[in-house]
Amino acid sequence: MIFGRVKPLDAILATAEKRSLHRTLGAFQLTLLGIGAVIGTGIFVLTSEAAQKAGPGMLLSFAVAGFVCAVAALCYSELASMVPVSGSAYTYTYAVVGELLAWMVGWALILEYAVGASAVAVGWSNHAVPLIRSLGLDFPVGISNSEALMAKVQIAFGSASTPELQEAIRTGGWINVPAIFVSAFVTWLLVIGTKESARFNAALVVVKIIALTAFIALTLPVLHSENFKPFMPTGGAGVLGAAASIFFAYVGFDAVSTAAEETKNPQRNVPIGLVGSLTVCTIFYLLVATGAIGAIGAQPVTDAAGVVLSPGTAAMAGRCSFITASGAMEPLVCSKEALVHVLQVINWPFMGRLVGLAAVIALPSVVLMMMYGQTRVFFTMARDGLLPDKLASVHPRYRTPHVVTIVTGVAAAIAAAVLPVGRLADYSNSGTLFAFFMVAISVMVLRFTDPARVRPFRTPIVWVIAPLSMIGCVGLYLSLPLTAILVLPGWGLVGLVIYFLYSRKHSHVGRGTIEAHEADADMPPIPGA
Ligand code: ALA
Repeated sequence: MIFGRVKPLDAILATAEKRSLHRTLGAFQLTLLGIGAVIGTGIFVLTSEAAQKAGPGMLLSFAVAGFVCAVAALCYSELASMVPVSGSAYTYTYAVVGELLAWMVGWALILEYAVGASAVAVGWSNHAVPLIRSLGLDFPVGISNSEALMAKVQIAFGSASTPELQEAIRTGGWINVPAIFVSAFVTWLLVIGTKESARFNAALVVVKIIALTAFIALTLPVLHSENFKPFMPTGGAGVLGAAASIFFAYVGFDAVSTAAEETKNPQRNVPIGLVGSLTVCTIFYLLVATGAIGAIGAQPVTDAAGVVLSPGTAAMAGRCSFITASGAMEPLVCSKEALVHVLQVINWPFMGRLVGLAAVIALPSVVLMMMYGQTRVFFTMARDGLLPDKLASVHPRYRTPHVVTIVTGVAAAIAAAVLPVGRLADYSNSGTLFAFFMVAISVMVLRFTDPARVRPFRTPIVWVIAPLSMIGCVGLYLSLPLTAILVLPGWGLVGLVIYFLYSRKHSHVGRGTIEAHEADADMPPIPGA
């Protein structure tokens, strides 16, 4: 039965009270926190992929994805302010719809956070490699991406060996070493107990905002209206497909919700922080996308037969290589560092490099936020008995959950080493959309089952917002590429097997031992936090 094992809210809240962090964050800091976690690989890299899917219509895609995130964020905040403890959506669902679904949400959050961290790591690599080369240093293609490997795997699994795939094998790489490097670096930071300070985060937000503002200021004056035609070359389906992928550009705002317990007057400040950071990001994204499309055009490329290629595939990489080899200008949709590329094409190469440098400086903190989120979820699940206790062990010197951190780091590094950024982002989105969907359900269920409980923040017009969030999540999920749609049930199946073979038997709630663990069932103190 779905509601079978519910972790009592009061037990969860007792933990929070014991921990009682200082309430120091105001609306402005929360907004900065949100912007810091959100702006990343999505806008710096995936803009090209969105253009390949929707052409100039990606402007609508950005708006749709932003709207779905906004309604999801309003639901998230109600639970985050009521249940202000580690584990985010996993903890909320445990208290509302029971252990089995909570397990599934926690399991899906691995996709959101760990795979999301891999995607950002690859986005970092996309900027770091050209930056190294621009300094006159050599960086071997073979270890800078995984395009050749992807093409080989595709052929091994029965794809026809087209000229595009052969070209990808000839010009692509086999393993993404810079992505492994940044994943390892962030893992090390987390093991030694680094947590981003508010001041450092603010500095990185400024770097990102300056980079995006410079991009907008340089591209908008050279905007050509004919670059917007045809506006929707792939129709409404293309726009929705791009929205499902570019959704990744907005992920991370849950950092604001999970900071609810450290917020002064959360009823007022959490929604300001959430809506504020999402609004700022949406405005920037729309302006950046307008600048990119208007400056150099954003039409999708097709294969020899005129079929629009899927972004991130080896065939697409091969096709792009043909185009550039022919001496033609590299189209936006082919670029691995979209914004840098646009500035180079419109004759601002140095500014382009600076924007690339901004990405290289700022993206590791997005990887850090995502990996940190993952370790919190893993840690909470292990403390609940659903994962082996060993995972929850705390390093004697650094007082950090080093085992979960290293497991997360290794998994993220492996995925980043061999998969392209767009595919990783799509997989991450499938997990995130499932978690957001469950959060919207939980908000409504809890309004029925526990109407009297204090809600520091209440989702406005919840009976409209929560269903809208659910519809939006399902709509975007179904607009993902088929492989990403299949990843969620496939991953879920593995999760179910583990649950029934291990977690169900070891669950502390199931064994009736929650109290013993609740007292310290949270993250260990982190030095400098
Ligand atoms: N929204 C974050 C990014 O785009 C995850 O990198």
